[in-house]
Amino acid sequence: MLRTLRSVLRFRRRARTRAERLRAQAANIDDLRSLALRRLPSGVFNYIDGGAEDEVTMRANSAAFRRWNFAPRVLCDVSQVDTSTTLLGRRLPIPLVLAPAGFSRMPDPDGELAVARAAARAGLPYSLSTVATRSIEEVAAAADGCNWFQLYPLRDRDLTRDLVRRAAAAGYQAMMPTVDMAVSGRRERDVRHGFTLPPQIGLGTILDGIRHPGWTWRFIRSEPIVFSNVIGRSAADGNTPVALADFINTQFDPGFSWQDVAWLRGEWQGALVVKGIQTVADARIAADHGCDAIVLSNHGGRQLDGAPPALDLVAPVADAVGDRVAVICDGGVRRGGDIVKALALGAHACMAGRAYLYGLGAGGEAGVDYAIELLAEEMHRTMALIGCTSVAQISRAHVAPA
Ligand code: GLV
Repeated sequence: MLRTLRSVLRFRRRARTRAERLRAQAANIDDLRSLALRRLPSGVFNYIDGGAEDEVTMRANSAAFRRWNFAPRVLCDVSQVDTSTTLLGRRLPIPLVLAPAGFSRMPDPDGELAVARAAARAGLPYSLSTVATRSIEEVAAAADGCNWFQLYPLRDRDLTRDLVRRAAAAGYQAMMPTVDMAVSGRRERDVRHGFTLPPQIGLGTILDGIRHPGWTWRFIRSEPIVFSNVIGRSAADGNTPVALADFINTQFDPGFSWQDVAWLRGEWQGALVVKGIQTVADARIAADHGCDAIVLSNHGGRQLDGAPPALDLVAPVADAVGDRVAVICDGGVRRGGDIVKALALGAHACMAGRAYLYGLGAGGEAGVDYAIELLAEEMHRTMALIGCTSVAQISRAHVAPA
């Protein structure tokens, strides 16, 4: 008995670094989400995790991937699988762009800098949000990878123009006006939590802070959170706590139209990427305006509840304009296999936000590295198992409705 016991008893070496601990605790993005849920105060977690109204679109984004199966080909010699691709003239190790996300210093004090550094290490583009808590210049200085700037058109046109010029001066590769936020979607989890930016301290937040001492300790030791891109330039720069919906509804320009996209095309020399396209008709108009790429996106289900899942638009949009613009699918990506499905339906790349934010919430910068690594490994394995050795080989013949 002792001999048997000795042969099976092996104590796992204790994980020493944060990266090792994450690997031991999380096997996939969903596990990173569970870790983030435990580690973050509930207002912060729900700001990331939540969507608009009944969250039907948010759930539909992920569910859309489950409605496709693979049609795997076998005996294809997959001893060498290459997951890389070219997007907007740049070679990427996997077809993935890190989506813009507001206020990334909420889940972790290193916030946008951590994500931009992880993206640069992985060779992937990082999109910095207008409502970021680090500035255009700070991110460019921290990560000289490939940065995109997500432009929320502000009512203050001079400030909007200034953001575009600053991104150009700081070497950003792409300008990404985000056009699905004429007004704010109603994120009811934020309403219930009374979530403001920066967070306001009340009894609820104090109790939440006590339950999450690690997060609270790091948060109070770090610099105050502000809207770094507009600090000192706008009365709403985060120095006074504001509910996100109020900020959006007073600062964002609901008058932004295709004419302004034409203006932006003239103003910006780099790649122009319109994010938030949700119909074939608008995809065509974007292509006619000389956009280089479109992002099929409903803002992760955070804006219009009832908008179509991004994946459902991929095939019709790719058929209509895929030869004129790069088509990027954003929303619901939690697996490398999801990226493969989107490519099979005609996308050139995917964008993911929550997938890396869960990593950031679970383990800071190491968590973002790990989230990217998980998606890359899963994509590699999926390609091998469906018999594709290059991205170019992935075709509609590799998927079938479930
Ligand atoms: C900001 O862009 C958000 O969706 O919260």
